[in-house]
Amino acid sequence: MNQLPVAELHLHIEGTLEPELIFELADRNSIALPYEDLDELRAQYEFTDLQSFLDLYYRNMDVLRTEADFADMTKAYLRRAAAAGIRHAEIMMDPQAHLARGVSLGTCVNGVASALAESEAEFGVSTELIAAFLRDRPAEEALDVLDRLIATEAPIIGIGLDSAEVGHPPSGFVQVYERARAAGLRRIAHAGEEGPPSYITEALDLLGAERIDHGIRCMEDEQLVQRLAADQVPLTVCPLSNVRLRTVDTLADHPLPAMLARGLNVCVNSDDPAYFGGYVDTNVDQLTGTFGFTPDELARLAANSIRSAFLTEDRRAALL
Ligand code: ADE
Ligand code: ZN
Repeated sequence: MNQLPVAELHLHIEGTLEPELIFELADRNSIALPYEDLDELRAQYEFTDLQSFLDLYYRNMDVLRTEADFADMTKAYLRRAAAAGIRHAEIMMDPQAHLARGVSLGTCVNGVASALAESEAEFGVSTELIAAFLRDRPAEEALDVLDRLIATEAPIIGIGLDSAEVGHPPSGFVQVYERARAAGLRRIAHAGEEGPPSYITEALDLLGAERIDHGIRCMEDEQLVQRLAADQVPLTVCPLSNVRLRTVDTLADHPLPAMLARGLNVCVNSDDPAYFGGYVDTNVDQLTGTFGFTPDELARLAANSIRSAFLTEDRRAALL
């Protein structure tokens, strides 16, 4: 890993739940897991597509019950992120996934936020929190949760859109994003991971998305590539995630080098590092091993992450 300051902009905090912590929290909360031991759990981590991963991801988060559980998971990520060279992290969480299983909004948000509040002092990592809405659940539910987040002054900087992409286009969430904009929140959205390039265009034009999570399928649409390059739209790319979820066959087939060559504003992120074989440092190491990125290219990736972050200008200047 190079020593340049790096920001992680595409990270689902629930995707940092490591197998060991799943067992620890199950024990703490007297939950019977459907796995005998760590090996049996780890044997589940073979994915055929996004949905096969999401099934396990939502099932495993059932061990998160108390504020302390959410705080412990978040602290473990921050410690590992600092070791990976991350100096700033913009962290998504999935409130609806917790509400749906009877965990209150206060419990999940306060638990994560309490760990984030200590992060700069404890780990030297500045942070922001983003509430992501599940696109395979009704937009009315997202609106209701957004209203509650705003009413309770939850410490979020913005909103995102995640979960099963195909068949759930951004166009269904226009009202949610409009309400977030009116409330002064920043807007990002997953698009072009498994879904078509048109979802990226919709996220930009209909939702006002300021960053696109993944976005790799833009490469199938020349006009879109030209637009993304001209506007320097940030694309938070997650190479190991794409390999593990089979959106690309192998890392050697990943479009990141081609995206860089086209002048796109790409950066490297870990998405759900506990599930996909590594944190940002491992992503970068494997990319470098596969593509032989030059110091110049690595510096560009790192600088893109800092300039694409929702940082105060003071903090950005301190990091650049
Ligand atoms: N939720 C957690 N990880 C995700 C991903 N890679 N794509 C969509 N939704 C997600
Ligand atoms: Zn993601």
